[in-house]
Amino acid sequence: MTLDPRSRGAFKILLELYDKRPDLQEAYPEAKKGDLKRLARWAEGASTEKWHDSAHGILRPYAESYRLWLRSLDITNTAEPGWDIRLATYLKRWGPLYFSPPEEEAWVGKAQPSFLKKQGLLPEHVFLDLGCGWLRGTIELIEYLEEGNFYGIDISQANIDKAKERTMQMAKHQPNLAVASGFEIGQLWPNIQFDFVLAASVFTHLYPADLRECLRQLSKVLRGRCFATIFKDNTLPVHGGWCGVCVDHHEDHSTISRRENLEKLDFCYNTSWISHAAIQFGLRVREIGPTEIGQFMLEISPTGQVPNRDS
Ligand SMILES: C[S@@+](CC[C@H](N)C(=O)[O-])C[C@H]1O[C@@H](n2cnc3c(N)ncnc32)[C@H](O)[C@@H]1O
Repeated sequence: MTLDPRSRGAFKILLELYDKRPDLQEAYPEAKKGDLKRLARWAEGASTEKWHDSAHGILRPYAESYRLWLRSLDITNTAEPGWDIRLATYLKRWGPLYFSPPEEEAWVGKAQPSFLKKQGLLPEHVFLDLGCGWLRGTIELIEYLEEGNFYGIDISQANIDKAKERTMQMAKHQPNLAVASGFEIGQLWPNIQFDFVLAASVFTHLYPADLRECLRQLSKVLRGRCFATIFKDNTLPVHGGWCGVCVDHHEDHSTISRRENLEKLDFCYNTSWISHAAIQFGLRVREIGPTEIGQFMLEISPTGQVPNRDS
């Protein structure tokens, strides 16, 4: 570990404290071997929350050092990549067709229509599958809905091609399907307003900037309700930096686990963060509850307030 002189002082004090405190040695045994991440995270907390630890006075002058050192390790605090990089990562992950085992395909193909019908989806409703993939979950709805009422977008040309091929074989009438990389739904189909939108396992794979953009674009075309699943983690920070970089994270929110999840484009979200983003575009978010596949269902609908969609 390379440390600047101030951080060296901060860690000297921390390690002296560690030597004197069996509770810390028990809680952070790896610190003995030089892995100081979790101990430093504790020190950062203890240095700022004086009510919770008697070490506050000792650590307080070094709070900033612990924070900066952790920030240098923690990819959640690095800047969100620019659009070109985000687009390239989306295309790398989603460009090829995604694989779904037949049992899963069969289950999703029943679960999504059944959920939407329980929520009140009727044949006369105009429906959008946002991030539709190859229509694994919603192909059944093409026939259920009145002709022309099914829409789908996806970032992947291969998925849309396969979706079209499947509907040729399986459905009497054809859905409106398009490739879109920026959720430009209103541009693709001007004057269409949607009664129902489903974004299943899509927000789970979006960087925060794109989730926000998705909400902005959605607000222009949503007259009813959008159901979207997320990986919910309300322990993540809400504002400042970017919030969503972990799922199945280890107890200590270790950097390695977050990096792995970032590579897979698996993002967690704090529901307050999403609500805050949505409200700026005149949308409200209601928490529905956990889904059977370990995600969490949200309902998004217009508040009726005139939003500022330019920001
Ligand atoms: C896990 S799959 C889910 C597909 C489908 N909703 C389902 O439940 O079977 C995620 C889908 O989101 C699409 N996707 C990912 N990022 C996207 C983006 N930025 N814009 C549009 N679609 C995106 C992927 O191409 C992929 O089809």
